[in-house]
Amino acid sequence: MKEAKKTVGIVGHPIKHTASPAMHNAAFRHLKMPWSYTAWDVPPARLKSALERLRKSGVAGVNVTVPHKTRAAGYVKKLDPAARKIGAVNTIVFSNPTRGFNTDGHGLVRALGRELRFQPRGKTIAIAGCGGAGQAAAAALALAGARKLILLNRTTSRARALSHRIRSLRPKAAVSLKPEKCHLLINATSLGLRKSDPLPLSLQELRVLQPALFMDMIYRPATTAFMKTMKKQGARTANGLEMLLQQGARAFEIWTGRKAPLEVMRRTLKKEIYG
Ligand SMILES: NC(=O)c1ccc[n+]([C@@H]2O[C@H](COP(=O)([O-])OP(=O)(O)OC[C@H]3O[C@@H](n4cnc5c(N)ncnc54)[C@H](OP(=O)(O)O)[C@@H]3O)[C@@H](O)[C@H]2O)c1
Repeated sequence: MKEAKKTVGIVGHPIKHTASPAMHNAAFRHLKMPWSYTAWDVPPARLKSALERLRKSGVAGVNVTVPHKTRAAGYVKKLDPAARKIGAVNTIVFSNPTRGFNTDGHGLVRALGRELRFQPRGKTIAIAGCGGAGQAAAAALALAGARKLILLNRTTSRARALSHRIRSLRPKAAVSLKPEKCHLLINATSLGLRKSDPLPLSLQELRVLQPALFMDMIYRPATTAFMKTMKKQGARTANGLEMLLQQGARAFEIWTGRKAPLEVMRRTLKKEIYG
């Protein structure tokens, strides 16, 4: 029987620079599926009505991105365990009831394995930035067995709130709010998107952290100033492209029930972002 046409997409604000449509549409074409992926710019005040409209119009599901991930968790009727623990949703299936997932943490853990051959179990991991991405990273890494998380954020109250959350999520994981020696450092701040941005941590703090591995969640530019600094200090580094790919691949599998064609999606993302 011929497969029915289906639409999925991404809801965010702003949404102009998203590479997700190219990545997913390349996967649909590769698998000869009659699906399409669209981007919808939705300001925060209209999130709920926009999601309702998309559901009623027969859209199969959406990715949710900045600034909607936390509010979207309150919209769905059923949260999968990862989304409930992280407190944010980046993938919605408009089934009955509407279900919410978070594939960012899964994407990060998969990307760390592939890019840096890093497994979180038993490790000490420092995260700079406790916004949405930092929170998802901390929860996923704690659940993946990290021994200790070092949470560093400009607004310290946010780091403190996240530390409480991690302790209730996995009481065995230690949490520190001050720099100390770690295996891996992750940049989950938005600093580095612009050329003029300073590093989120001082050189003094980096000397204390001394990580052998560094991942910047930013993927544009391909090599951030933070990556350059860490390379000079002898660390192996990776940017956020593989994380973007892996979270998207997982969303693809949730919507379609098919294995995501990773290589096609990776190639398309690189072409779309770096030309
Ligand atoms: N590769 C991927 O798949 C992926 C996925 C998600 C996010 N990301 C990237 O991760 C980054 C963070 O995203 P998000 O969703 O977590 O954003 P967010 O919720 O807005 O959080 C921004 C974070 O950056 C910090 N920050 C912003 N400006 C700063 C400054 N001038 N000095 C020090 N800290 C500053 C914030 O600290 P305060 O709390 O003090 O404001 C906060 O921790 C973005 O660059 C995003 O593109 C990548």
